[in-house]
Amino acid sequence: MTFDASTRQVRVRAPGKVNLSLAVGALAPDGYHPLATVFQAVSLYEDLTARPSDTFELTVAGPFAEGVPTDETNLALRAARLLAEQAGIDEGVRLHVHKGVPVAGGMAGGSADAAAALLACDALWQTALSRETLAELAAQLGSDVPFALLGHTAIGTGRGHLLTPAMTRGEYHWVFAIRSQGLATPAVYRTFDRLSGSTAEAEPQADLELMQALRAGDPAALGAVLRNDLEPAAIELAPELTETLGVAHDAGALGAIVSGSGPTVAALARGAKHALVIAAGLTAAGVADEVVCAVGPVAGARVLQPVRMGGDFEPGPLSPVDRG
Ligand code: C5P
Repeated sequence: MTFDASTRQVRVRAPGKVNLSLAVGALAPDGYHPLATVFQAVSLYEDLTARPSDTFELTVAGPFAEGVPTDETNLALRAARLLAEQAGIDEGVRLHVHKGVPVAGGMAGGSADAAAALLACDALWQTALSRETLAELAAQLGSDVPFALLGHTAIGTGRGHLLTPAMTRGEYHWVFAIRSQGLATPAVYRTFDRLSGSTAEAEPQADLELMQALRAGDPAALGAVLRNDLEPAAIELAPELTETLGVAHDAGALGAIVSGSGPTVAALARGAKHALVIAAGLTAAGVADEVVCAVGPVAGARVLQPVRMGGDFEPGPLSPVDRG
């Protein structure tokens, strides 16, 4: 990148995720729960553009922009500041996020923004930090941020931040039933604590049957073993999710679970056409504010292209060529 600083912008795309399995252990003294989870990155994307600035600023647009804080609490801005601090950069950055991942939906949209901001600022400021350093910074920002950098399918342990890439075959077709009223992750974990009492395991384990289904590329086998220990807690906080899950099953889903801490419901389909049938069933039943189809696994955060400014800063949705 040899562009003049005033005409540079960097564009990064980062995916949302679904937890195919989420085994949650008992609350640890550090305030976190040990996890054994299997993440899969899916084709709902956050598109972030970074441009040089004297200050740290953020604007947000797109289908899920409503209610996103643009102040210093925003994880993307915190990521940019952390990277500047780490690399000794004395500049600011102007970030723009086009949100394609539901907010507070259990799909790690905010974490995807943070991963995208790390990668974009690294490219913009030419800090050339290693993937390992970026992953360490990501883990400081949030438990799901390292996976948004890595993408594809991975086993997460620790807080969910210690990742091992997983071997998978084939493409999985998902239908996501989205609610506009999100759930706060800490509240879901607190409810989990109350519901599980002293029964939560100290060291949860990754599900071997699930790993086998992924290696075989067998969606029916995967659908049968989807698991989320946070689901009862999410249902307690949003009881209408029971009906959404029921409709997904009745519509023929191979499996249906709450995604992460919810309230998004993820339904697994046999293929693209089957996904449309399930999506139609969920829409007709009126059990979601929005229904979208997506595939997984997809790549983690990546720089699409460092481009010259073309006048307008707002990037808007990407062309079909950029998608996927
Ligand atoms: O790491 P992150 O900031 O995304 O976590 C948000 C909140 O979710 C934490 O403050 C904690 O309450 C809860 N959490 C947890 N155990 C984890 C991950 C998150 O209790 N493994």
